[in-house]
Amino acid sequence: MEQRVKGCSALRGEVAPPGDKSISHRAVILNSVAQGRAKIGNFSPGEDCLATVACLRELGVEITEKSRGTLIVTGMGEKGLKEPEDVLNVGNSGTTIRLLAGLLASQTFLSIITGDESLRSRPMARVIHPLRLMGAQFWGREGDSLAPLVIKGGQLHGIEYRLPVASAQLKSAILIAALFAQGETTVEEPAPSRDHTERMLRAMGADLQSDGSKITLAPKPTSLLALDLDIPGDISSAAFWIVAGAIHPNAKIRITNAGNNPTRMGIIEVLSDMGAKVRIENERIAGGEPVADITVESSHLVGKQIEGSIIPRLIDEIPLIALAGCVAQGTTIIRDAAELRVKETDRIAAVVGELSKLGAEIEELPDGMVIHGGKTLQGAECSSHYDHRLAMTLGIAALIARGETVIQDAEVVAVSYPAFWQELERLTRQ
Ligand code: S3P
Repeated sequence: MEQRVKGCSALRGEVAPPGDKSISHRAVILNSVAQGRAKIGNFSPGEDCLATVACLRELGVEITEKSRGTLIVTGMGEKGLKEPEDVLNVGNSGTTIRLLAGLLASQTFLSIITGDESLRSRPMARVIHPLRLMGAQFWGREGDSLAPLVIKGGQLHGIEYRLPVASAQLKSAILIAALFAQGETTVEEPAPSRDHTERMLRAMGADLQSDGSKITLAPKPTSLLALDLDIPGDISSAAFWIVAGAIHPNAKIRITNAGNNPTRMGIIEVLSDMGAKVRIENERIAGGEPVADITVESSHLVGKQIEGSIIPRLIDEIPLIALAGCVAQGTTIIRDAAELRVKETDRIAAVVGELSKLGAEIEELPDGMVIHGGKTLQGAECSSHYDHRLAMTLGIAALIARGETVIQDAEVVAVSYPAFWQELERLTRQ
């Protein structure tokens, strides 16, 4: 599907972003092996999270939809999962394959997991390596580095492991496997990544200690306790509207019920530092996670250098920061973000290529990009590269560009934010 978006004269209104994708995956996976029944509200409607639900059902978990966005998960305990009859397909979802790899590492049956073309090109050795050290057997294509993955789990033992990259998917895979291992597991991160798994495990009764960069989990003889929760809105989805509001000359947008977890708030810190008028209000806790309402309005931004330990806290928002850099005064430099090359697409090459089509002055670095700001963007024909976050970034860029922008393969937004194009239209109408 192609989406046509014209520059708009005003951008106003209120948005409630969809349920957080990362928290939704974890809520269904962890409740599947808990004891008892959990009610999960505001579950992400994105295809990635629906793929996780479909895979868990193949593993014998009863998951029903009580009402729109509310799921009931019946926990099966540690030993209740069954061998899937067919290959599990995670579609585009890197979080699903990596977290399920951790779960299936402890199961004595055979499972095979695959996904779409993008997923089958993403690195899996990083997750296979520690899970093998814990005692699971894994095979994959290209020297056991790519999906499809074949997993034969078994009795695991705890490990001490330093992650080669700051990755919450990897950390979470190891912690999920550690639940069913003999002995403690310690995971050390080079920089703090999102901590949703740790928060949820603690709330479900796991024995987990964390000092920020080192997390230790001691398995318990009893199962996790089922956890009811209302999933906060996804700050990574809210980020599209936050950047839109900051870069559009006539905008005021209020975002309600957005996740406000410090390990995800790099985008707000960077935008504020660039001069964005962003206000965080009504801070509260929901489902063990901080939540808030966010108001943003038209701002004069200045370019900044973004690097180091903040990168994992804004990794999914870098395409948007690049866009903000295009209109900011001065130069924006993004470094230490080589991980972007192994996301849904090579996001450094794709962002540079597509924003250049709109007239941006932007260069690739091996681990980031340099953006020369102060530019007026011009509508053009662009490709999403089948990457949901790039499609939405281009949609926001189109709102401030002269003329019309055509975004090819725009339906890919359904991976995390199915209502995105309707919401964009609504906010430009008000
Ligand atoms: C995610 C972690 C991040 C992020 C992804 C979701 C998660 O990936 O990019 O969109 O839910 O754990 P990495 O862990 O590979 O950095």
